[in-house]
Amino acid sequence: MQELLWRAMLAACLATGLVACQGSRALRDNQSQWSQYTETSGKEVIALGQRLFFDAMLSGSGRTACATCHNPDFAYGDPRPVSISDNGQPGLRHAPSLLNVAFRPYLMWDGRFASLEEQAFGPFRPEGELGIGIEAAAARISRDPSYRLQFSRAFGGSPSPEGIVAAIAAFERTIVIGNSRFDRFAINKDDRALTPIEKYGLEVFTGRGLCANCHVIFAPSTPSFPLFTDFEFRNIGIGFGADGFHDLGRGAITVLEVDYGSFRTPSLRNVAVTGPYMHDGSFGTLHEVIDFYDAGGNPNPNLNPILRPLGLTIQEKNGLVAFLGSLTDLELLPAPTR
Ligand code: HEC
Ligand code: HEC
Repeated sequence: MQELLWRAMLAACLATGLVACQGSRALRDNQSQWSQYTETSGKEVIALGQRLFFDAMLSGSGRTACATCHNPDFAYGDPRPVSISDNGQPGLRHAPSLLNVAFRPYLMWDGRFASLEEQAFGPFRPEGELGIGIEAAAARISRDPSYRLQFSRAFGGSPSPEGIVAAIAAFERTIVIGNSRFDRFAINKDDRALTPIEKYGLEVFTGRGLCANCHVIFAPSTPSFPLFTDFEFRNIGIGFGADGFHDLGRGAITVLEVDYGSFRTPSLRNVAVTGPYMHDGSFGTLHEVIDFYDAGGNPNPNLNPILRPLGLTIQEKNGLVAFLGSLTDLELLPAPTR
């Protein structure tokens, strides 16, 4: 099955002649790659994780849940430019969509967490997104007999911090979608899945727009699944002003000056519905994003050398926006059963 899958995808990818298809060739050398993503936990664990993800009881005020900022109505993202924590404090960054989050080799705009489990501890701090420590959250849900029952079915024990993060992570790994019109075009070789203007936009994306240099369509780490990123950290100048970098991004983790202002290159799947855009949510529309690239990004000491003024025509810009719209697929969202 895996063998067939990769063959079909490789053939489809090469047939489209995309410059960013190199990644799919790497699949030949690593056919077990696919299974690592489809591995799932038991039903009880996932159902528990889903309940926890949507439960505002796991917050200081009792009003904030993971789903407040990763809202399924907004592709598991946040329509606000930056998220507001449980204590009412705005954060610095825009909450990423969690669609296909299991495919990301590291998490956050600065890549500081290596696994979903590790990440899930993060919001549980009295001053953090959820406004409560994880021990206190575990103690609180322990008072609910239905949670005690669910934990014992899932893990054979009572509610614990480790159980909470394991269950949430297992649920997050199920938020997978993969049937956009672009998938049908590139993987199922359905030539009619894209309109002429979308195909033209794809040409601009891989050609004059230079987009696929960074938003690599089939990334080496996910050669069978078009994610539109290689997950590298890059500086395009967002958040750099007269007073310097507002957010050091990757630079705050590596403590290297060359990384100041670099952020993980985001996936563009479902990008038409995951605005506002960039780590600080500073662009409201895709047209604004494309105008920004057309101007060559925002000059700063670490600007990625690929960026330069492009002189895109109106048609090219409209093509890009149309093409990005073909990456939307919300039908397979798991319906939350609270
Ligand atoms: C108050 C809003 C808020 C709440 C509540 C919240 N998050 Fe987030 N989440 C964010 C923001 C903002 C980021 C990006 C932060 C960064 O990059 O530094 C983020 C990042 C993430 C990421 C990384 C995504 C990626 O693309 O790398 C995951 C996974 C995640 N959150 C899961 C959760 C889970 C699970 C919970 C509940 C336990 C939760 N979040 C609660 C706002 C929130
Ligand atoms: C030099 C590498 C590079 C190139 C070239 C590039 N991008 Fe990006 N892109 C990034 C990085 C890095 C970010 C995140 C930056 C940040 O938030 O500070 C990003 C963010 C975005 C976002 C916001 C996504 C989100 O979830 O917030 C969109 C949309 C986007 N790029 C589209 C494009 C398009 C279209 C092109 C071609 C015109 C393009 N990019 C070219 C690296 C690049």
